[in-house]
Amino acid sequence: MSYPYPIRTDIDWSSLSFSYSKTRSFIYFEWKNGAWSKGELRTDPNITMSIAATCLHYGQACFEGMKAFRCKDGKVRVFRPIENVRRMNRTGHQLLHPEIPEDMYMDAIHQVVLDNVDYVPPYESGGSLYIRPLYIGTGAQIGVSPASEYVFMIMVMPVGAYYKDGLKGVPALVIEDYDRAAPKGMGQYKVAGNYGASLMPAKLAKKAGYPIPLFLDPREHKYIDEFGTSNFFAISRDGKYVTSDSPSILPSVTNMSLMQVARDLGLTVEKRPVPASELDDFAEVGACGTAVVITPISSVTIGGKVIEYGHECGPISQKLYDRLLGTQKGELEDIHNWLFEI
Ligand SMILES: Cc1ncc(COP(=O)(O)O)c(C=O)c1O
Repeated sequence: MSYPYPIRTDIDWSSLSFSYSKTRSFIYFEWKNGAWSKGELRTDPNITMSIAATCLHYGQACFEGMKAFRCKDGKVRVFRPIENVRRMNRTGHQLLHPEIPEDMYMDAIHQVVLDNVDYVPPYESGGSLYIRPLYIGTGAQIGVSPASEYVFMIMVMPVGAYYKDGLKGVPALVIEDYDRAAPKGMGQYKVAGNYGASLMPAKLAKKAGYPIPLFLDPREHKYIDEFGTSNFFAISRDGKYVTSDSPSILPSVTNMSLMQVARDLGLTVEKRPVPASELDDFAEVGACGTAVVITPISSVTIGGKVIEYGHECGPISQKLYDRLLGTQKGELEDIHNWLFEI
């Protein structure tokens, strides 16, 4: 498709949520006999594989998530895809998957977004095109060892703006009976198995009335690790951006970007172990990730004690959110060269 890019007229952009929908195509690569195939745009979203494919048995599966935006000037741009490429290769390295060449990966993102560019929601809708790379072992074998064959795919789908009426706080619960990851385990990698491990604690938290679970470090249960699918950050009473440093949390691209935005705004950034006892001292607490950018946390409940931060988004979190989203949507100058134009 060529610029100016079309927009579909058969989608109700105002009713999109963060859910799967089929688009025109996904891109598909195979790794066989030590080499990658050429990327193929496929339209049938069903794939076939052996019942002995290692991704089905031994957790040889990892994924990524990022977004493309239809910007104010009509151009379509992806937010910091190179960071996702690198994070997936770090994860893949840990799973003994073959490396995906960065130029192949970036070209694949370009091709699949371009082929589905009419699915990128209009600028005014606040929506975006969610990009989901998936990398799995598909070789048929029954022993636990690296796969003989792999598949790398990228699917895309339009998703809606989370907050149509402004940022609203949600209560979080500190999970005390489960860990998301092991102390020297896979917490810093985006492996599929981590998400299986988070389902039960997330369900129990939801049942108790908390949409977001907050995990502590798995070694001592003393420090704050991260939320179920987003990083933890807080604004101290003296206006510092504080975020957890831990080997068992996922290095969030959003958090990395918010730290830079915080510095741009003149805030001091502290990335360090954050004792749970410090929760009493923060002015604002937030969860950050690609899906929502920032979810303000209205309260954290820990050991039956409720620490309140207020239902409205705090002023510094709001500023950070506005700066980051404004950059993603091309309303503000991309001073750090974060956007990848399609
Ligand atoms: C466990 C976990 N932490 C943090 C994040 C946020 O990372 P990012 O900002 O790269 O989306 C995610 C989402 O990808 C996640 O699944």
